[in-house]
Amino acid sequence: MKNKCIAVGITGGIAAFKICSLVSSLKKKGNDVIVLMTKEAEQFVTPLTLQTLSGNKVITDMFTVDYTPDVHHISIAKKADVFVIAPATANIIAKIANGIADDMLTSTFLAAGCPKLIVPAMNTGMLENPITQDNLEKCRHYGMHILDSASGYLACGDTGKGRMPEPSVIMDAIESLAETDRWLAGKHVLVTAGPTCEALDPVRYITNHSSGKMGYELAKAARNLGAKVTLVSGKTALAEPVGIETIPIESAADLADAVLSRREENDVIIMAAAVADYTPVTKDDQKIKKSEGEFALPLKRTTDVLQALGENKKEGQVLIGFAMETQNLLENAQKKLVAKNADYIVANSIADAGSGFAVDTNNVTIISKEGLNPLGLLSKEETAEKILEFCLKED
Ligand code: CTP
Repeated sequence: MKNKCIAVGITGGIAAFKICSLVSSLKKKGNDVIVLMTKEAEQFVTPLTLQTLSGNKVITDMFTVDYTPDVHHISIAKKADVFVIAPATANIIAKIANGIADDMLTSTFLAAGCPKLIVPAMNTGMLENPITQDNLEKCRHYGMHILDSASGYLACGDTGKGRMPEPSVIMDAIESLAETDRWLAGKHVLVTAGPTCEALDPVRYITNHSSGKMGYELAKAARNLGAKVTLVSGKTALAEPVGIETIPIESAADLADAVLSRREENDVIIMAAAVADYTPVTKDDQKIKKSEGEFALPLKRTTDVLQALGENKKEGQVLIGFAMETQNLLENAQKKLVAKNADYIVANSIADAGSGFAVDTNNVTIISKEGLNPLGLLSKEETAEKILEFCLKED
């Protein structure tokens, strides 16, 4: 997401301090960020901080003579691609649910026609009060998007629901709303991501270094373009993406079940997961105790999911596989394209600088029956967008 205009409304809750990093990230990504604050928000964070981070004048008062026409509330409402209110107090939620426009933030919000995101943050009792719940329901009814609150320690000392989700989660929700060219709308896309874990006993398993980042970026990029996305994910440290049905799995057998049972309903299946080729023949119920000498662990093959999908491909379905290699990258990847009857194989070498498991960049080549298409070194987010564009966008 870049070159978008994001209006960020801040209201008077302690979580306001976290919005500074959201504003900074939005700006760093190349967006025009306009911050609007209520009087109460100014008690928690200063307009000067947000003005410095956003690079734009921060809007606080309704009746100030030095506003230029481009910061008039109607101009901002027309300009914004997404309008987010975070943190949203019970008070602001009650106001916007009822069309009250008594300051610059509420007036601009009421006038805006773009997608709107409310991020509630308050004490559990206030959040769970049926009045607040009714107000949130009313906002939903009017087409606003509500980001579910997180649970945990609250600034008032209580523990419960009401925490504002982390700025990275709010960013993900904004990105899901900002795209205007939704050329994947109506398509169902399934993405697999992360590693599988093959248990030997209740305490040990065989796994790999996959972080899941590439698969998560693909799932989010497809969602941003309007697709209905299912993410089948091995264990990762990544936050569950907003607006995506995420199915957690552990083993290659779990992954095979999750994917093969959904093959019919998906137009596109992207196998970005690092799936184990072998699993222990048996899983001990008890912890395996050590003994003298060597220890051999018999392994058996797992189902090759991509191959199973390729052998019985639904008419019009697009299958995209990955190949991470340490040698003979393109030759091995081309063999996989044919052997698994995939439409595309995205090949990358862990030997290349900037490619691999833990980094945020990738350097891939897309292989199809027509030939090779190197994308060059890009962030995983950009790589995901380019893969979808190359493999799925019709001219
Ligand atoms: N894959 C799969 N099921 C498996 C193993 C791999 O669906 N049991 C998929 C991966 O998700 C990836 C593609 O097949 O999209 C290639 O995976 P990779 O591990 O690179 O290749 P393998 O087929 O396992 O071949 P090899 O071990 O010979 O490299």
